[in-house]
Amino acid sequence: MAERTFVMVKPDGIQRRLAGEVLARFERAGLKIVALKFVQVSRRLAERHYAVHRGKPFYEGLIEYITSGPVLAMVLEGNHVISRVRTMVGATDPGQAQPGTIRGDYAQEIGRNIVHASDGPETARQEIDLWFSPDDMVDYEMSDRAWLFE
Ligand SMILES: Nc1ncnc2c1ncn2[C@@H]1O[C@H](COP(=O)(O)OP(=O)(O)O)[C@@H](O)[C@H]1O
Ligand SMILES: [Mg+2]
Repeated sequence: MAERTFVMVKPDGIQRRLAGEVLARFERAGLKIVALKFVQVSRRLAERHYAVHRGKPFYEGLIEYITSGPVLAMVLEGNHVISRVRTMVGATDPGQAQPGTIRGDYAQEIGRNIVHASDGPETARQEIDLWFSPDDMVDYEMSDRAWLFE
């Protein structure tokens, strides 16, 4: 079932020049880029994005981290893309993440884990709406469509 998810290369991923590497993994998996933008995150946007974590011990550090430099935000589309991308991203703590996952291959610490991905259909919808306007969604067809989908 085709669905959409929100993904972001966090400031450490950008600073470590891993944006292309991360995006390439999603491209190779056959996912479709529906929207993409490079942004310096405001405190207001960071607080809305991580509202669920407000009050937790790591919250202030998390807001500082995510506003510390530009991020690459995107909407990806594909079959079961929400859970599939979460699997590709790996466990929240890179120390627990499997080799072959983005966090398992490139990161060391939970507070610098390279990438964000929506964790379910409800958060995907909310995060896409928070980060993008309907006008940002590009409607087009991939030329390899017939070779990816039966
Ligand atoms: N104990 C922690 N210490 C520092 N940062 C944390 C901690 N727990 C979570 N974070 C940060 O907050 C983000 C959001 O947490 P969470 O939603 O639990 O993970 P995920 O990003 O895998 O969905 C994590 O990706 C990580 O950057
Ligand atoms: Mg989360």
